[in-house]
Amino acid sequence: MNNNFGGDWTSQKIEIVASYTQAYLKVMKNQPFKLIYFDGFAGSGEIEQDEEIIQGAALRILAIDDPKPFDLYYFVELIKKYADNLDAQIKSKYPQRRCVVKSEDCNVKIKDMADYLRKPANKMTKVLAFIDPKGMQVKWQSLEILKDLGIDMWILVPLGMGVTRLLKKDGNIEDAWVKRLQVFLGMSEDEIRNYFYTDDRMNLFGEMVSGQRLDNTIVRAAKLYQERLKTIFKYVSQPFVMRNSKNSPMYHFYLATNNTTAIKIANDVIKPKFK
Ligand SMILES: C[S@@+](CC[C@H](N)C(=O)[O-])C[C@H]1O[C@@H](n2cnc3c(N)ncnc32)[C@H](O)[C@@H]1O
Repeated sequence: MNNNFGGDWTSQKIEIVASYTQAYLKVMKNQPFKLIYFDGFAGSGEIEQDEEIIQGAALRILAIDDPKPFDLYYFVELIKKYADNLDAQIKSKYPQRRCVVKSEDCNVKIKDMADYLRKPANKMTKVLAFIDPKGMQVKWQSLEILKDLGIDMWILVPLGMGVTRLLKKDGNIEDAWVKRLQVFLGMSEDEIRNYFYTDDRMNLFGEMVSGQRLDNTIVRAAKLYQERLKTIFKYVSQPFVMRNSKNSPMYHFYLATNNTTAIKIANDVIKPKFK
């Protein structure tokens, strides 16, 4: 059983998260925190890529135990058969690790995690989160509740794949798409239009012409999402941009954190890969 998606960027993002995790565990080695790894879109454990099966991020991260493993691994995967497959692989390969695999919507589990971390009894817990959706499943309100918590979060944002495709050039966006953008960006329709479009205007014949999309939509979207994340987290890395074979940006990958060391490590990990 395997998930079939991605391209080169699948390996790239797994490499980024694995390198970061390695550095994170080193920094945390002698700190008194309980460490949790939270993977919100965990997959089946395997990925089919170019007719080959590669190991998904979950098993890759479980393999890292130098200088130490996490105290708990929490995997969320909506599709039950994928979650079951992942669970079976973990049990056979890493029976000694403390792992939970839940077949649920990541948005629900992010909220549960935030509630858990807000309890005074858990104030010595830190989370490294990997949020790896293929589409626009992550609601802005799910991220907002992470404010001021001890979380470092790698998040894959489908700006080219999702957001800019919904932002039609002539501003004529279906209601359902406007709603999706609002839920995804946590912005009102007016705020979205003001950011991405020129104002409506009267033409020479006295007719109203609706606003047109401004240039560089993808660059604007990347800047916007980074700024939005900065309203929740103190620091947000440069995005690592993942492109398709035509060199069009598909996804932007950010680390969001409240910790200065974390942001330095993240930028170092992605710097050689800046595009
Ligand atoms: C891009 S894949 C994740 C790949 C994974 N990180 C790996 O390395 O194998 C996205 C996964 O999220 C699952 N998914 C889709 N919507 C979801 C949701 N709302 N909550 C949790 N998982 C979801 C899909 O079934 C799919 O397996």
